[in-house]
Amino acid sequence: MTPTASDQLPLVLAIDTSCDDTSVAVTQGVRVLSNVIASQTELHQAYGGVFPTVAKVAHRERIDEVVIQALREAGVDWDDITAIAVTQGPGLAPSLEVGITKAKALAEGYNLPLIAVNHIEGHALSPLAVPADEPANLLEVENVLSLVISGGHSDFILIKRAGEYQRLGWTVDDAAGEALDKVGRMLGLGYPAGAEMEKLAAKGNAKAYEFPLPMTTSGDYNLSFAGLKTAAQTLFNKIAVDGRLTKTQTADFCASFQYAVFRAICYKLKKILENYEVSELWLGGGVAANQELRRMLNEVSATFDLPPLKVPYSMKLCMDNAAMIGLVAGYSLNNALTQPELEKLERLPQLAIGS
Ligand code: KG4
Ligand code: ZN
Repeated sequence: MTPTASDQLPLVLAIDTSCDDTSVAVTQGVRVLSNVIASQTELHQAYGGVFPTVAKVAHRERIDEVVIQALREAGVDWDDITAIAVTQGPGLAPSLEVGITKAKALAEGYNLPLIAVNHIEGHALSPLAVPADEPANLLEVENVLSLVISGGHSDFILIKRAGEYQRLGWTVDDAAGEALDKVGRMLGLGYPAGAEMEKLAAKGNAKAYEFPLPMTTSGDYNLSFAGLKTAAQTLFNKIAVDGRLTKTQTADFCASFQYAVFRAICYKLKKILENYEVSELWLGGGVAANQELRRMLNEVSATFDLPPLKVPYSMKLCMDNAAMIGLVAGYSLNNALTQPELEKLERLPQLAIGS
């Protein structure tokens, strides 16, 4: 990869309100000057999932303050900003609406161009981000396989170059994070459960319970986690006493289930690497925070003589955040909308990526 642009890249103010986090960032090329996230996790905990109308109201209440904080933390003001970027989709329609409406108002008010960004593209390119004290250079990306593993997505994305994608495989039902969250709920863990499950799994035995390996005969690179979830429920019903497991059983359950989910991802990944020549493996999305998943993917990387797995430089960049949206915008400044095209920009809750 060779640098293709200098440090004189424009500053972008980016907004992501795709789900339950209100996030605004200031980026320059791949450099993250600020990345503010107002989490709504505590508001949705009672529902055991994200409640769209609650999310919309909270986004509306918080967005102005988050914009101000992102500018303040970056140490810049509106005169320094050259473009606005916003997540167009995929995501929850009411949530996306708030970010897009705000982005349009800011673009109009400050007479700035507006760049619509695909949220999955943000996760896929998030390993490129660098902290504020590093150069902003946009690197040429070629032939990278990026795994986006989150609560909403489980995608294998071939990045031919920035802006040119082929989605080689995806989940046909639940996303990996969603499966971890649902089984976590069954075990009485909080929502979302992925991080807590990782902690408990570290104390457990991944071989204690055996789960099936799904989709081995599907003949494609797709994933499925619904069957694993059902297998988990059946096992839980069998071993639980009064609807509860012992501490040791819970740790073993977490370790075994987490392993089953990650093994399924590695299985399809190996199939892809047997058939596609790629130069690097990247990982993005909330589940990318998991050290065991990173370890297992690194093992696959080594088996195929690839460099070590590339991951986002911080946990914040793994979860939903606006810095990854700004980073994508840095690669697509020539797609910016100006007045009067701005009005045409609409939310796309089902937006996909690649061919
Ligand atoms: O990317 P993200 O913040 O939101 C979506 O776009 O979905 O991902 C959230 C997901 C949740 O399912 C959460 O349980 C999972 O990421 N997660 C983890 C960990 N931290 C968050 N899963 C496994 N291990 C973790 N450490
Ligand atoms: Zn996401």
